[in-house]
Amino acid sequence: MMPPRNDRSNAPAVSVPTPAQLLLDWTRGGISGPDVRESAKTLGELQGLFGDEQSFKAMDPMREIYRVRVASNVPAGEEGGLLWGVTVLQPGKVGDEFFMTHGHFHADRTRAEFYATVAGEGILLRMDGERRTWGEAMSANTLHYIRGEHAHRVANVGSEPLIFWACWGSDAGYDYKTIRQSGFSARVVERDGAPRIIFHE
Ligand SMILES: [Fe+2]
Repeated sequence: MMPPRNDRSNAPAVSVPTPAQLLLDWTRGGISGPDVRESAKTLGELQGLFGDEQSFKAMDPMREIYRVRVASNVPAGEEGGLLWGVTVLQPGKVGDEFFMTHGHFHADRTRAEFYATVAGEGILLRMDGERRTWGEAMSANTLHYIRGEHAHRVANVGSEPLIFWACWGSDAGYDYKTIRQSGFSARVVERDGAPRIIFHE
């Protein structure tokens, strides 16, 4: 493709520098272009997060639960930049608890995030610093603004992959440790064929 040109008649044609292009496969959660990082999270890597340990042990630890693609247009940690990524979270359950992401706080509690859902059905769990947890329904075309001080985790409560895009500060950082140690104060489980949020502490 030819780069765009400056067409002012009183100036010589000048090539406009074209930044590295990223192309999105919006509804399927694809990003192509330079510096796209992709990682998968297996069930085994989520050990200790699901309530039903017996059911967990009976399942394949190599089973992929979710996959994340991030456009690394700025180095993580760079102040003032934005990161852009997508998560594809598979359907399924451990016992009666729906597959979910690990969940995290941002290391910098002032850094917020957007989640925009394009496919599937989910519940976004948010938890504040006092461990008050609540759920927000995710489905195609919902947009969630997550305040910087709220931990966030997503459960897939549907039968298809849940796909959501995210935009967050490159200097937000990740605090997984707090969730690893204390979890959320609620779980998303199936009761009578429907998703339900169960508060357990
Ligand atoms: Fe986040």
